[in-house]
Amino acid sequence: MASTLLVLLLCTPIPSLTTHVRGPPPGPLHRRSNVPPEGYFDPLNNGGSMLTQVPGTFPAGLGEPINVIISEDSDSDVLKNQETDGGMLNYFLSFGYATECLGQHSGDDQAANLGDGNGYLNETAVIRWDYGDPQLGSCRETIDGGAHFRIWVQNGNEADSGAVFVAASYEESLADEHDIIYNGYNLGRDWMIGNATNQSSIIPTSNVTNQTTYNGQTSFGGYTYETNVKYISGLLQNTSQGINHYLTVGGNGVNAVDGLVAVMQVSIVERPATSGVGHISAPSVQAWLLFALVALSFPPSLF
Ligand SMILES: *[C@@H]1O[C@H](CO)[C@@H](O)[C@H](O)[C@H]1NC(C)=O
Ligand SMILES: *[C@@H]1O[C@H](CO)[C@@H](O)[C@H](O)[C@H]1NC(C)=O
Ligand SMILES: *[C@@H]1O[C@H](CO)[C@@H](O)[C@H](O)[C@H]1NC(C)=O
Ligand SMILES: *[C@@H]1O[C@H](CO)[C@@H](O)[C@H](O)[C@H]1NC(C)=O
Ligand SMILES: *[C@@H]1O[C@H](CO)[C@@H](O)[C@H](O)[C@H]1NC(C)=O
Ligand SMILES: *[C@@H]1O[C@H](CO)[C@@H](O)[C@H](O)[C@H]1NC(C)=O
Repeated sequence: MASTLLVLLLCTPIPSLTTHVRGPPPGPLHRRSNVPPEGYFDPLNNGGSMLTQVPGTFPAGLGEPINVIISEDSDSDVLKNQETDGGMLNYFLSFGYATECLGQHSGDDQAANLGDGNGYLNETAVIRWDYGDPQLGSCRETIDGGAHFRIWVQNGNEADSGAVFVAASYEESLADEHDIIYNGYNLGRDWMIGNATNQSSIIPTSNVTNQTTYNGQTSFGGYTYETNVKYISGLLQNTSQGINHYLTVGGNGVNAVDGLVAVMQVSIVERPATSGVGHISAPSVQAWLLFALVALSFPPSLF
């Protein structure tokens, strides 16, 4: 009787301990069905827009460009909005961007319609340059200004790619009411891409064109990411019209938006050795339970 129980006990997986045990890495078979080969659905094909809605602009109705896409061809872990298991937030930390200061959300929300059937939704998160300090650096960005981006996931049931759409820009300080610097949408995109692809010098924004590519590796928390970027034209217009802060961001022959979107494909090429930690702790807990069961199965006089 006791031995049957023992066998059952030893064979039963302990769910809370097995969650860290990784299965095989997701292969092409895990790819979501019907996603176009470029790894996202064009929002314009289903009533969406590559411009955000910004509340309270003058004149009304101005938007900011969605100028980066993390495509569905990326490692599925990178597309998860989490810091664990090499998720998106750990990836952002690998190139110097962190979630908002002490978890506090500041500034107005912007809304985007990714053409996925969800209509306009406020951003999922605002991610800020961390000035080399993953814990508190984004607080400095909130006050001093700098590079930041907003993210939305294309996951509505009419276009469920799982791709992450990003509106990147470079803003002035809180005292200057967080206006965007001159050429700050194009520069904000390129400084994000320059960091994400570990460039040793700044991407020359005025030389980037349709089909320009960059790639490189970054790491954080034991995860190493390989990022391949291709700039494409056609999703955004090369224009200042309808763009928030168009008077100060554009000018001198430069449009506030150059019309290019950087499409990122991110792979995890290295994971920490400890990701199989569940294998180590599970047997010791089972051994403890085994001891308890054995102790309870015998009359106290035997001890
Ligand atoms: C978006 O955020 C604004 C505040 O910035 C809020 O008033 C509005 O209700 C939010 N919209 C949705 C759909 O959550
Ligand atoms: C990385 O981002 C910072 C902050 O925006 C910027 O100063 C720096 O030039 C960027 N690096 C590259 C290589 O683009
Ligand atoms: C940009 O292009 C111009 C003209 O082709 C070239 O002279 C210049 O060196 C390029 N700048 C960079 C930083 O690559
Ligand atoms: C955008 O338009 C400007 C002005 O017409 C032009 O100089 C620039 O080369 C264009 N940029 C791209 C990426 O096509
Ligand atoms: C980033 O580039 C530098 C050289 O520019 C290199 O030393 C470093 O190892 C790179 N980072 C990763 C994670 O490959
Ligand atoms: C960008 O380049 C691709 C590949 O050469 C081409 O098919 C596409 O038409 C170009 N887009 C524009 C808007 O010129």
